Amino acid sequence: MIMGRRLGVLISGRGSNLQAIIDAVADGRLDASIAVVVCNKPNAGGLERATAAGIETAVIEHTAFASREAYDAALVETLRQREIDLVCLAGFMRLLSPVLIDAFPNRILNIHPSLLPAFPGLHGQTQAWEYGTKVAGATVHIVTPELDAGPIVMQATVPVEDDDTPDTLAARVLVEEHRIYPEAIGIVLAGGWRIEGRRFLRQPTAP
Ligand code: GRF
Repeated sequence: MIMGRRLGVLISGRGSNLQAIIDAVADGRLDASIAVVVCNKPNAGGLERATAAGIETAVIEHTAFASREAYDAALVETLRQREIDLVCLAGFMRLLSPVLIDAFPNRILNIHPSLLPAFPGLHGQTQAWEYGTKVAGATVHIVTPELDAGPIVMQATVPVEDDDTPDTLAARVLVEEHRIYPEAIGIVLAGGWRIEGRRFLRQPTAP
């Protein structure tokens, strides 16, 4: 199946990864368009970034829904109305139900601030710092029902220095997040990849 290039970006906060995607589209590094930015928090800073870039925003507050499934059904409707091909989670602080995941099979990406499978969940950078790892990093992966556990599209590492704090480490990881997320989106949109077991593979199968 050839994928179109209409992105839906889901955010909850400041939207710096959203900005990285906006910038990559604007300067031609990423051949795609952001059709909608969906946010579950009405005051999220990322909404201003989207508006400044002329991108439609949709605020869908989860507090207005009785269940996770009902909320996700509203997301699916919003994304389908805009004919979204690929959903990009960019600091979207919600667990996803099968209602959303099954609507976009292998078509939802997430950026996570650790070298998965180490340190899933919240504050991956702080977890790495507290654990005392000597490298940290970021992961772009395909979203599956298990949290932060889908096939890995791309990772990047950064060193952990003795004088790092959780904040300085997170800032170093964030630079890499902004670099690899647009690149990974481009790889997924380009197609020609396959998933074997857990492995995301770009090479064609050997004859
Ligand atoms: C990033 O660290 C991302 O890896 C994680 O949430 C944070 C979102 O930051 N999933 P921002 O809103 O993109 O600035």
